[in-house]
Amino acid sequence: LVDGPLKGRHVLVTSGPTHEPIDPVRYIANRSSGAQGTAIAAALAGLGASVTFVTGPAEVPPPDGVTVVRVDTAREMLAAVEAALPADAAVFAAAVADWRVASAASSKMKKDGTGNPPVLEFAENPDILATVGGMETGRPRLVVGFAAETDDVIANASAKLTRKRCDWIVANDVRPETGIMGGSENAVHLVRADGVEDWPRMSKRDVARKLAARIAEALAGEAGA
Ligand code: C5P
Repeated sequence: LVDGPLKGRHVLVTSGPTHEPIDPVRYIANRSSGAQGTAIAAALAGLGASVTFVTGPAEVPPPDGVTVVRVDTAREMLAAVEAALPADAAVFAAAVADWRVASAASSKMKKDGTGNPPVLEFAENPDILATVGGMETGRPRLVVGFAAETDDVIANASAKLTRKRCDWIVANDVRPETGIMGGSENAVHLVRADGVEDWPRMSKRDVARKLAARIAEALAGEAGA
């Protein structure tokens, strides 16, 4: 662990997509490279935090210097997050699938020759951010969520802040024409109960560094660990 303002702090970061099985060879997933979550974990570790990085099957490798917990499904991610607590702060950058297939087949589904494709029934996944945001005991002091929106970015993010009981939401516009999804840059708004900060477009690495610095400031402003 390096020396820095987050030395002695434990920060949890979720990242990447989740994969929800349909059968042993197929899954449904969200589109997520894991780039922003990975950069955030690296930036927090760079400020001296002890980082638990709970990641779904991402495209980019996890950073060095963090404890990596690999999961596939949303339910596994929730269990890994609960197992990693307590934490001083938690950042939920994962693109968790909202639904899973209600009863995944245990053997590979086959075409039956009738021309009638299978009908999948979905069940709602747990909301990991809302679960942690609403914890009555053991809640991290700072709970940070993400909101990837295509419309009414700030209004939707503010609603999410309240609904999921988090302290901050990092909101971004992921309309395809922004090139943000899968790209190396991001343009975000830091939404808090007391106001919104618009950050200029910058690399995902710089977004991560700025966010890590804000987290360090926020934790420094409270009683020590
Ligand atoms: O509601 P929406 O999926 O847009 O919220 C995004 C935020 O909630 C992200 O921080 C994401 O990591 C988190 N989330 C979660 N568990 C879910 C769905 C979203 O932790 N099942």
